[in-house]
Amino acid sequence: MAASFATLHVLFLVWFLPATFSLSFFFFKAESISNVSCYEKDKQALLTLKRGLADHEHVLSSWSDHKDCCIWDGVFCDKKIGRVSELHLSYSRLGGEISGSLLQLEHLKHLDLSYNDFNCTLIPSFLGSMYSLTHLDLTSANFSGLIPHQLGNLSSLRYLSLWNNSDLYVDNLRWMSGLSAIQYLDLGSANIHREVDWLQIMSKFPSLSELYLDNCQLDSLNPSLGFVNFTSLRVLNLSGNHFNHEIRNWFSNLSTSLLTLDLTSSSLKGDIPPSIFNLEKLEYLSLLSNKLTAQIPDSLGQLKHLAYLDLGLNSLNGPIPSSVRNLSRIRELYLDQNQLNGTIPKSLWLLSKLETLFVGKNSLTGIVDERHFQKLSKLKNLYMSEARLFLNVSSNWVPPFQLDYASMSSIKIGPNFPSWLQSQRSLSFLDMSMSGISGKAPSWFWNWTSNITFINLSNNHIECDVSDIFLSSNVKLLNIANNSFYGPISTFLCQKKIRKNKLEVLDASNNLLSGELSHCWKYWQSLIHLNLGSNNLAGRIPYSMGALGNLQSLRLQNNRIYGDIPSSVKKCSNLRLIDMGDNHLSIIPLWIGEMTNLLVLRLRSSEFKGYIPPQICQLSSLRVLDLANNSLSGSIPNCLKDISAMALPDSYDISFSFTYWDIYTSYVENVQLGPKGKEMEYEENLKLVKLVDLSSNNLSGSIPTEIWDLSELHFLNLSRNHLMGKILEKIGSMKELESVDLSRNHLSGEIPPSMSNLTFLSLLDLSYNNLSGRIPSSTQLQSFDALRYIGNPQLCGDPLPKSCTIEEQSLNKSPTGSVEDDSKNSNFYIGMGVGFATGFWAICGALLL
Ligand SMILES: *[C@@H]1O[C@H](CO)[C@@H](O)[C@H](O)[C@H]1NC(C)=O
Ligand SMILES: *[C@@H]1O[C@H](CO)[C@@H](O)[C@H](O)[C@H]1NC(C)=O
Ligand SMILES: *[C@@H]1O[C@H](CO)[C@@H](O)[C@H](O)[C@H]1NC(C)=O
Ligand SMILES: *[C@@H]1O[C@H](CO)[C@@H](O)[C@H](O)[C@H]1NC(C)=O
Ligand SMILES: *[C@@H]1O[C@H](CO)[C@@H](O)[C@H](O)[C@H]1NC(C)=O
Ligand SMILES: *[C@@H]1O[C@H](CO)[C@@H](O)[C@H](O)[C@H]1NC(C)=O
Ligand SMILES: *[C@@H]1O[C@H](CO)[C@@H](O)[C@H](O)[C@H]1NC(C)=O
Ligand SMILES: *[C@@H]1O[C@H](CO)[C@@H](O)[C@H](O)[C@H]1NC(C)=O
Ligand SMILES: *[C@@H]1O[C@H](CO)[C@@H](O)[C@H](O)[C@H]1NC(C)=O
Ligand SMILES: *[C@@H]1O[C@H](CO)[C@@H](O)[C@H](O)[C@H]1NC(C)=O
Ligand SMILES: *[C@@H]1O[C@H](CO)[C@@H](O)[C@H](O)[C@H]1NC(C)=O
Ligand SMILES: *[C@@H]1O[C@H](CO)[C@@H](O)[C@H](O)[C@H]1NC(C)=O
Repeated sequence: MAASFATLHVLFLVWFLPATFSLSFFFFKAESISNVSCYEKDKQALLTLKRGLADHEHVLSSWSDHKDCCIWDGVFCDKKIGRVSELHLSYSRLGGEISGSLLQLEHLKHLDLSYNDFNCTLIPSFLGSMYSLTHLDLTSANFSGLIPHQLGNLSSLRYLSLWNNSDLYVDNLRWMSGLSAIQYLDLGSANIHREVDWLQIMSKFPSLSELYLDNCQLDSLNPSLGFVNFTSLRVLNLSGNHFNHEIRNWFSNLSTSLLTLDLTSSSLKGDIPPSIFNLEKLEYLSLLSNKLTAQIPDSLGQLKHLAYLDLGLNSLNGPIPSSVRNLSRIRELYLDQNQLNGTIPKSLWLLSKLETLFVGKNSLTGIVDERHFQKLSKLKNLYMSEARLFLNVSSNWVPPFQLDYASMSSIKIGPNFPSWLQSQRSLSFLDMSMSGISGKAPSWFWNWTSNITFINLSNNHIECDVSDIFLSSNVKLLNIANNSFYGPISTFLCQKKIRKNKLEVLDASNNLLSGELSHCWKYWQSLIHLNLGSNNLAGRIPYSMGALGNLQSLRLQNNRIYGDIPSSVKKCSNLRLIDMGDNHLSIIPLWIGEMTNLLVLRLRSSEFKGYIPPQICQLSSLRVLDLANNSLSGSIPNCLKDISAMALPDSYDISFSFTYWDIYTSYVENVQLGPKGKEMEYEENLKLVKLVDLSSNNLSGSIPTEIWDLSELHFLNLSRNHLMGKILEKIGSMKELESVDLSRNHLSGEIPPSMSNLTFLSLLDLSYNNLSGRIPSSTQLQSFDALRYIGNPQLCGDPLPKSCTIEEQSLNKSPTGSVEDDSKNSNFYIGMGVGFATGFWAICGALLL
């Protein structure tokens, strides 16, 4: 449903990239050269090298003095002259020091130290004196610091890769001009932004064929001469830079031989210049994830050799140009996540080599029927979600393709269940959520799903007896929320045939499931996210739920569950989210304090009695504490300050805490919260909420003064209790507060002037207490309706109709206690302070956004 599509798209691409490296040792045995014997000087040089290296995996164990060095692992000799010519030491977890003895290997051509860990040391500058080198691979070897200029002396070097090291950088690239033989150059993830003339310098290499400058913090595509012309460039990767300007026109003259151009995530803006499609030989073009606008130029059709085109995740609008018909070799076409409109042109459906078609998340309209797919027999991946498309095919359609991936959420497919699915034998991902399917799920469906990993049929009107569900052991995600699945849930959970399941996400919320929760949870130990909310489930929470040791969210809200929460639940120690609101439970268990990973605890409207256990303060990561609308009594524990997530700024990123990720998809929790009186669904933004809601209980005693130390809270609701005490001046430092409801208690004293510092405050309710004195003046405080202050007979001033008498005025001005003392000081600030605060937060607020 609410996947983060940007990431989905990128993950999807990663999945399909060829696995370039195998993470195993990568040694070549020198076999046929066994007759060549090793040159003694080379052998001694290698033994010295070995002594310097930290060889944790003993990969150099064959390097011993009494063996011919030409048969050592990773060592190759030149047969003719009997000298060491190649060293292949990648994926060896080597570290330590690279000895200068390497210089003795006068005939070394090929040096591969990639995928090792040199502990953030500098690249040794003596490598620049190994003049015979033609191939130097230092990929992912954990080197850092300045790339030594000496490397520029390697005039025979044809291949240089420094990709994916820790923190390499250059001060300039002028030294590079010595690399006159270079053909393959990869500086990916080194910081080269200090060299403004990088384009001009790189374009001087006469034989350069592949140039990788991804994630190099480059910020300009403006060569000093106004244009560049690479003579033999075939591959250019500039992804992950921050250009922040338009694609320049000269780009079209970049190279007449270019086959691959990758400009993914490079912050490019503006139109796609039609001339860029003059790069006629292109086979691979990615402009994924930039800020490109306007229409896709019709000249796209010039790229007749294109096999891969990604224009996804931009702001392109207008129609898909019908010139796509010329892309007759295209296999992967990504146009998703733009604002493309109109219908999908007929010519697109003629691209018979298409294996991947991503057009979802656009404003495309129209009917797509079986004739459209006639030619697409190779189609494997289809993403059409979130467009105004209608997939209108007959019930006996047999598609010409066999899909692996079908994402068709939020388009119209129903009302009939799509029977063509039955012909798809290798589908592993199916999303047909929110697609207007109604009626009974056909009997073949659950048997058919046996090869599927992800099934999302949520938000339809599908009727199905849960005892008919057959889940194969492949299914990891089953989302059937918001449908009409019915029957006792135990018939599903306890079925013998689905005991061997690997289900990680089960969302069956908002259906008609009934019965008790069953004792079969031991068969469901892979579960990470479980949502059975809003069904007709009854009975107690079974002890067997403690078997769900991987569970991160447990959602049983809005059912008819009663009794205690069994102590076995504390064994689900990975729980981050518990939602048991709207049931008939009894007391909040003391062991709740042991659930230290909890971020969200929602137990509202569930008939909880007794007191709030102080153990709750041990939940130091808790961000949402919603115990509203129960029958809790006693006082609020005076340790809330220990919940550091509410008192201190976030110390780590919780972005993904409520999300299930997989290469194919994501599943995001959505929780109903009512911070401003109205219940709302919090989904992606749940991570932004810090809330305490204890409203509508029987809580009494003083509000613990510590509550005013929860300076990161956004929402505070203590209304409708019997609480006493004062609102302390410290409330002014709870700068994030957006809503404060303290109404219908017995609070006394004055409204502290510091409240005028709360510039985000959009809801305040202090009605029906015993507050007194003047309502402090500020833009915010006077903007609330008078109803938010009524029921406090001794309160006066705007917006209340009652104006303050001299007496009440002076109450504020002649301090009698420390609280009033503070407020006197604050009065001084109000005049000038609010303006400052508003301005300051306007800026910071904007930055935060
Ligand atoms: C190695 O020497 C043996 C005999 O001396 C010979 O038969 C063989 O062909 C040689 N191998 C190579 C690779 O030169
Ligand atoms: C790189 O070296 C640094 C410094 O010793 C170390 O902290 C880090 O873990 C290393 N990184 C990798 C990927 O090995
Ligand atoms: C890595 O470097 C750190 C200092 O940066 C040093 O303390 C540590 O011993 C080194 N580790 C190895 C394995 O060389
Ligand atoms: C190698 O390069 C460095 C720095 O670029 C330079 O100072 C030095 O003279 C060069 N050495 C040789 C032998 O060319
Ligand atoms: C890049 O290097 C990091 C360590 O710095 C490593 O974790 C990661 O796997 C490397 N990436 C690839 C694709 O090898
Ligand atoms: C770029 O260089 C190639 C080969 O040197 C040449 O054929 C071509 O005309 C040049 N292009 C431009 C726009 O100068
Ligand atoms: C370009 O570099 C990025 C980042 O390293 C990589 O993910 C991508 O696969 C590269 N593109 C090509 C076409 O090699
Ligand atoms: C590209 O090169 C051609 C031929 O040299 C020239 O006429 C044209 O103006 C160049 N285009 C751009 C945008 O630089
Ligand atoms: C597509 O959107 C553009 C504006 O972005 C609008 O002018 C045009 O009329 C739309 N076309 C269709 C077919 O909706
Ligand atoms: C599952 O996949 C296998 C191999 O791809 C295929 O033979 C089998 O028929 C599929 N099963 C179903 C129920 O589609
Ligand atoms: C589903 O498969 C089971 C056994 O795998 C079989 O007993 C049952 O009849 C099948 N149901 C349908 C509707 O095909
Ligand atoms: C408002 O906030 C500022 C900055 O935190 C603080 O210096 C000032 O005392 C506060 N004013 C009141 C009235 O609390």
